[in-house]
Amino acid sequence: MVTASAPGKVYLFGEHAVVYGEPAVPCAIELRAEVTVTQREDGLRVQANDLSLDGFTVEYDGDASGRPDIDVSDSLVDAAMGYVNEAIAQVEDAAGVEDAGFEVQIDSEIPLGAGLGSSAAVAVAAIDAGTRELGVELAPEEIAERAYRVENEVQDGQASRADTFCSAMGGAVRVEGEDCRQIGTPDLPFVIGYDGGAGDTGALVAGVRELREEYGFAADTVEAIGDIVRCGEQALADGDVAELGQLMNFNHGLLSALGVSSRSLDAMVWAARNAGADGAKLTGAGGGGCIVALDDSPETITALEYTPGCEQALRAELDAEGVHTEG
Ligand code: PMV
Repeated sequence: MVTASAPGKVYLFGEHAVVYGEPAVPCAIELRAEVTVTQREDGLRVQANDLSLDGFTVEYDGDASGRPDIDVSDSLVDAAMGYVNEAIAQVEDAAGVEDAGFEVQIDSEIPLGAGLGSSAAVAVAAIDAGTRELGVELAPEEIAERAYRVENEVQDGQASRADTFCSAMGGAVRVEGEDCRQIGTPDLPFVIGYDGGAGDTGALVAGVRELREEYGFAADTVEAIGDIVRCGEQALADGDVAELGQLMNFNHGLLSALGVSSRSLDAMVWAARNAGADGAKLTGAGGGGCIVALDDSPETITALEYTPGCEQALRAELDAEGVHTEG
């Protein structure tokens, strides 16, 4: 039995634009997904607890190549199981075995589909735990690459390396196409606001693609997000938190222009700014889910808790630890 954990992430800058080759800077946060893998006779059995902040439990018996053979009504849970199936396929590929049997237990603090990289964290931790259970130790870079293949497979070819690289390596990372590296940052305290919902990443990415194809100014907007990221890298290097906040605000405005914000995300962004955050933006695909504010004051958490549409507000420090085994 091997247990591994991997962090979720927030995007400081660059989501959506990263899909078109612009750089992005995600940061790992101290909310983790823990995956325990135990070999068993045959087939795949998955148990998942607390896949959302509200928590629920799902169990199924299936086989590694197929979909769960129980009726899973929640499409998000179904999607999460898709990631586990693909991660197990990567484990088998890395270890050079076929049809191994596994019991997989997932305990995640990261809400599903809310822009905090839950699927990447589960895929990364599952690959690390699964390969170690078979006696194979992969470098975090290889775990990241294999977890990227998992996401790309489940998301029909619409995935960047940002989430998976960040989750495997920890800390802040810079991703531009296939070029992925860790970067240094000053201390970055984050407050996260969560509306209890989730966006459909595939549909949101497709919506931006259509806008970009239809309007030159939408393509310019995507490029402008890339420019913000480049400015943001300088602000990170200078440790200029006020400038970082300003750039996050700008980034949110452009994401909003591309149609991926929502009423609740905008409300939470404004609540955090009005409470004194250095900056605030949606994080991840958008449509619903989470915002990230650059701040550590209790006032911002309280302001978010009183914001209509906000279900939960929490502090989350940058997590320097990428994937690692537990226990
Ligand atoms: O919502 P998340 O955490 O899956 O982030 C999606 C980020 C996008 O840039 C919209 C897509 C991607 O794969 O980079």
